[in-house]
Amino acid sequence: MSRDKLVIFDTTLRDGEQSPGASMTKDEKVRIAKMLEKMRVDVIEAGFAIASQGDFEAVRAVATAVKESRVCSLARAVFADIDRAAEALKGATAPRIHTFIATSPIHMKYKLNMEPEKVLEQAVKAIQRARQYTDDVEFSLEDGSRSEFEFMCRIVEAAIAAGASTINIPDTVGYGEPGEYGAMFKRVIEAVPNSDKAIFSTHCHNDLGLAVANSLSAVMNGARQVECTINGLGERAGNAALEEIVMAVRTRKDVFPVDTGIVTEHIVATSRMVSTITGFPVQPNKAIVGMNAFAHESGIHQDGVLKHRETYEIMRAQDVGWNANKIVLGKHSGRAAVKARFEELGIAFDSPAQLAEVFERFKALADKKHEIFDEDLQALVSQVQEAEAVETYAMESLEVCSKTGTTPKARIVLLVNNERLSAEAEGSGPVDATYKAIEVIAKSNTDLLLYSVNAITQGTDSQGEVTVRLERRGQIVNGIGADTDIVVASAKAYLHALNLLEAGNRREHPQHGV
Ligand code: KIV
Ligand code: ZN
Repeated sequence: MSRDKLVIFDTTLRDGEQSPGASMTKDEKVRIAKMLEKMRVDVIEAGFAIASQGDFEAVRAVATAVKESRVCSLARAVFADIDRAAEALKGATAPRIHTFIATSPIHMKYKLNMEPEKVLEQAVKAIQRARQYTDDVEFSLEDGSRSEFEFMCRIVEAAIAAGASTINIPDTVGYGEPGEYGAMFKRVIEAVPNSDKAIFSTHCHNDLGLAVANSLSAVMNGARQVECTINGLGERAGNAALEEIVMAVRTRKDVFPVDTGIVTEHIVATSRMVSTITGFPVQPNKAIVGMNAFAHESGIHQDGVLKHRETYEIMRAQDVGWNANKIVLGKHSGRAAVKARFEELGIAFDSPAQLAEVFERFKALADKKHEIFDEDLQALVSQVQEAEAVETYAMESLEVCSKTGTTPKARIVLLVNNERLSAEAEGSGPVDATYKAIEVIAKSNTDLLLYSVNAITQGTDSQGEVTVRLERRGQIVNGIGADTDIVVASAKAYLHALNLLEAGNRREHPQHGV
């Protein structure tokens, strides 16, 4: 079977961020983008430049930071969007403008209030405008899977003639069914006379749990780009999960006539990073990246795997990066060993001062915890990077009293813009008391949307990683904190979220601004 390249287009930073509550700061987006680059993702959709100033800056930052992958910005089929996308992508080595307009009868009539002819004309103009900035223009037919076949073919032909080199036919509302969606690709590719001049792309939402199946069916029928997200993050029920697509085509080479260039060993670390930053935990039974994805519980299965691994395993855990969490360092490790391990993890430091700070924190952690895993090191770097951001609130000390039969109390001392303030409060538990004490000082007027604790590694001496999602007047931020003491981790996460709000690192839902 002759094999084609399957282009992996990651939209975690754009469609993924459209999950309510999954907002990311510019720095967090750059960290994820660097990880995607390391994984050799072909195209990184960094955001929707016109949606907000924050999105614009994030696209710009990713465009400058990433050198190996193409960097893309979304733009509606209007000049202002395209110009803004082009501006944000100025620093990119390989920029792509991704412009879209809805083509289904229901969207054209009720959402756009436009006649099909006008939609076609606007798409062509938008593509031509985008081509003035870059040769790499993608055109999406929003709600493509519910569009009329004849019109779809006409607009695809016109889009290619106008200069689009990628044509994306999304299943925007997750309505598609694999047989039908795949057949649609085959028919369009056969019917459109200039279809050989473009790569056809699939972009599926998971409303019926069929996003991956639909994407793979499109691939079987000629699509050569898949748009997907890490952990399947995305609008509503999410998008097709990158890790599932990549591992499906790799594991079933006998079925899929395509190869991706993805370095699969980085999948688990990337999944973890996205989950930590967004505060969206990965369910234990999630394919590929769930904690139990390679765990065999039944005695019969364990026996089989021990006798011959392939009896119950179709993939090797280490191929997706599961065995990366080996013990790496302890309290006697020196600065050179720590630095070397970070380099192996692909983490570079911005300055010697940053390395010194990370090393300090490493030593403090090693005093509390004997075995330091890769995940601990990644959490340390996150903490240092977060701490370098402008901080309104810094914790000086926390004292918590929690005893059975009594009401928990917390006393916290904070530096608020360098002024030392303290407060005490009682709560239903130690975390509640701590948050109430912080609020005595901060009076932040926020709502707590999410509080979650995860153990970074195994064992009771593991660091607890806490994610806190706060909302203030429609603005949502995720704060993260890690510590071997989960009450301290909780306080750090809460203060981190407050600092993000104060620093203006807040954003509305990405498409609310447009
Ligand atoms: O789901 C969708 O149709 C989209 C487009 C903007 C590509 O996200
Ligand atoms: Zn989408």
